[in-house]
Amino acid sequence: MTKKKLTIDYEEFSSAEQMSAEDRMLVARALEAQKGSYSPYSQFQVGAALLLADGTVVTGANQENVAYPSGLCAERTVLFAAGAQYPDIAPDTLAIAGSDHGVLCESPASPCGACRQVMAETQKRFGRPLKIILVGSKRIRKFQKVEDILPFIFDSLKME
Ligand code: THU
Repeated sequence: MTKKKLTIDYEEFSSAEQMSAEDRMLVARALEAQKGSYSPYSQFQVGAALLLADGTVVTGANQENVAYPSGLCAERTVLFAAGAQYPDIAPDTLAIAGSDHGVLCESPASPCGACRQVMAETQKRFGRPLKIILVGSKRIRKFQKVEDILPFIFDSLKME
């Protein structure tokens, strides 16, 4: 038996002001995208903004349904919309902002497992890292690739 340790690197900012102009723009778009949230059941509004390699920004928000599992998170809403509208343009960075009853979470909302799996597929499909920015009012976290929020990704049907 060998004991192993996994470490991840990420950046934490106390405000968007400390980020690059491009990241600041994407954070603003994710916050704005919360307005499109349809969340009468949870009152949890999530906005997502996806920057594509050509500079296009696609936005999305969580969409709920009285039959709960029929709804969809903001992250998958935006990744699927981008896949449908821009199938040949690689996604570069995904910013996500979650608010509880209209108040931005202090510590950023973290994507669910299903959304992380879809992010992993996006990354694999386009063969380049997908950066992720999680936006909170007290801290903003930036990850350079999906592996940093989803270690030991399931990404192949072949056993190696
Ligand atoms: N939700 C997202 O849209 N993204 C996340 O990262 C976490 C959860 C949504 C799903 C549901 O509409 C609401 O937030 C409460 O779970």
